[in-house]
Amino acid sequence: RQKPKSELRIWVDGCFDMMHFGHANALRQAKEMGGYLVVGVHSDAEILKNKGPTVMTEQERYAAVAACKWVDEVVPNAPYLTSLEWMDKYGCQICAHGDDVTTMADGSDCYQLVKDAGRYWEYKRTQGVSTTELVGRMLLGTNELKDTPAASTSPFLPTSQKLIQFSSARDPLPGEKVVYVHGGFDLFHVGHIEFLKAAKALGSYLIVGIHDDVTVNKKLGGSYPIMTVQERALSVLQCRYVDEVIIGAPAVITKDVLEKVWTVDVVVGKKGEKVNDEVYALPKSLGIYTEVEPELSDMTTVTVIDRIIANRQLY
Ligand code: CTP
Repeated sequence: RQKPKSELRIWVDGCFDMMHFGHANALRQAKEMGGYLVVGVHSDAEILKNKGPTVMTEQERYAAVAACKWVDEVVPNAPYLTSLEWMDKYGCQICAHGDDVTTMADGSDCYQLVKDAGRYWEYKRTQGVSTTELVGRMLLGTNELKDTPAASTSPFLPTSQKLIQFSSARDPLPGEKVVYVHGGFDLFHVGHIEFLKAAKALGSYLIVGIHDDVTVNKKLGGSYPIMTVQERALSVLQCRYVDEVIIGAPAVITKDVLEKVWTVDVVVGKKGEKVNDEVYALPKSLGIYTEVEPELSDMTTVTVIDRIIANRQLY
């Protein structure tokens, strides 16, 4: 007899390399299948054996999955072949995966065992986003595009439905301390996660302003950003520390941002970040500006791209 949905524990496993909103959407759908979501993440060695090298290290990939708001538990070092014993060990009745075939190094289906046992459910893969496609955009950016944002080549179709599914749909409650941060949040990575976590800790409702593609390009030049503002908004919304986003926030923090829709109590910047004086002038004059120093990661979008270029012969 099948357990009621709320008592089902769902198992998902994968590489989650350069975790993007397609991965997050997979985890969202898996979480909806039951009451508790356990995500197994493969180690670097296991992925190397079955698929090839990763861009992100296992520690970075574990942290990225743990920061996703639909994930209840992360299991590091998960095997490529999903066995019934392994799922039982974590109390999971059902294994979920996207509607694509995932094979081991020898070509066999990673999910054959759970499929044969009738313990396999499928969700839809998200069209228009994959690690391979994002790497393609980054390489295009460094080679051919020069001064055009690589985001302009995105094949993803951002729909209102996707935004609704990712939204927390919650306003700040009276008396809640509202925190505001802004940025590009391109190729959402562990550096962003650490920053958002530290910012959220200064209040209880975190709003993230995301600059549009033109604003990011003006700031960083070259072919930045790699992802469109809508894609970057989804990447930020899937993060457990985030309550709301502005899709296309102004480069300079204005009175409107601080007062029009909500009342911002604290604006948080990153220590050592190079910005024009005017960007934080208003919150500074109001005495509501503060800075955090993310402790664990000094990763930036440029670091991610540098790694890919360094490894490019391997992809
Ligand atoms: N997934 C998805 N939609 C995408 C990409 C991945 O639903 N656009 C799902 C996969 O089906 C899987 C989970 O995310 O259930 C983890 O995927 P992962 O093992 O990291 O591998 P890939 O499918 O190779 O993802 P990508 O192509 O982006 O590397």
